[in-house]
Amino acid sequence: MQKLALLGFGTVGQGLAEILLAKQDLLKAETGWEGKIVAISDVMKGSIYDPDGLDIEKALQIVKKTGTLDDYPDNERLIRDLDSFETIEQTNADTIVEVTFTDVKTGQPAIEHCKTAFASGKHVVMSNKGPVALAYKELSELAKQNGVRWGFEGTVMSGTPALRMPLTALAGNEIKEITGILNGTTNYMLLRMEEGLSYEEALKEAQELGYAEADPTSDVEGFDARYKIVILANTVMNTVLKVDDVSCDGITQITPYDIKKAKTLGKRWKLIARVRKEDGVVKASVQPEMIDETHPLAQVQGVLNAVSFNCDLAGTITLSGPGAGRLETGYSLLIDLLNIYRNHL
Ligand code: HSE
Repeated sequence: MQKLALLGFGTVGQGLAEILLAKQDLLKAETGWEGKIVAISDVMKGSIYDPDGLDIEKALQIVKKTGTLDDYPDNERLIRDLDSFETIEQTNADTIVEVTFTDVKTGQPAIEHCKTAFASGKHVVMSNKGPVALAYKELSELAKQNGVRWGFEGTVMSGTPALRMPLTALAGNEIKEITGILNGTTNYMLLRMEEGLSYEEALKEAQELGYAEADPTSDVEGFDARYKIVILANTVMNTVLKVDDVSCDGITQITPYDIKKAKTLGKRWKLIARVRKEDGVVKASVQPEMIDETHPLAQVQGVLNAVSFNCDLAGTITLSGPGAGRLETGYSLLIDLLNIYRNHL
């Protein structure tokens, strides 16, 4: 029985909790995996810990109704108010689910959460891009030294296996180039702007649908896609690419006029992230590109993402799927948990 502590109980944490509630029996029957949430620590909603496992249905109901965990019923084992570090160090959880807000500038406090968890002999799964984009090498080495696992499938394309697929199914290839549409918010906005919405209206819709980051600047300026291409390059291409090495332009300068003009030319604007290895030199960029309507990436519409891997042996392989969403990202955490249990990547 894997014992989980959730750091953060927002959209993604609640998404995972809902999946566990709905699928517990099926997962046990099909894979043998069993997990229970023993602790939740959220800076805004409060913190509860029951070493025997929390009543997740109740926690979800209460948080949806009141916005906090304060009304979660007491029992003789229940401990409240542990902060995130106390939750990592003092609970009986063996795996930390890190779903706090992403601070992509510093990666904190998530980087410290990972270090504390690894030093405590605990696995970490996360959808938080900061630590992977900024400290992949250091943290992956630390996890290894401490004999624990670090899963972060959801950092790129949520539940679509953009990391696991190349690492497992494409092993043995040299991947020379990765190209993708890696941000759902901007891809959705570009579609809605083609359909006649203004930039502001399209952004508002993407926020209402829960696609955008807490600070949508990260989406529209291309920073989110930049973190994802760095994660792909470092984990899948085995480079040592830094965020600042990637030139970055977002979609803020794209006007309705540009969109219309592209249409008359049989083209479409897409925010394209790209990393290429040439004679040992790695070059990476994020920028809006006007691509032909017949181009495969032009067909990737709305919140859908896509990524193409140019492989020396298998050719160019493209994967597309949702890049954001409550259940999709919740699922990405579940597949990391299952793979820790199965001792797979
Ligand atoms: N804001 C991100 C996107 C969410 O729109 O793709 C997933 O990283």
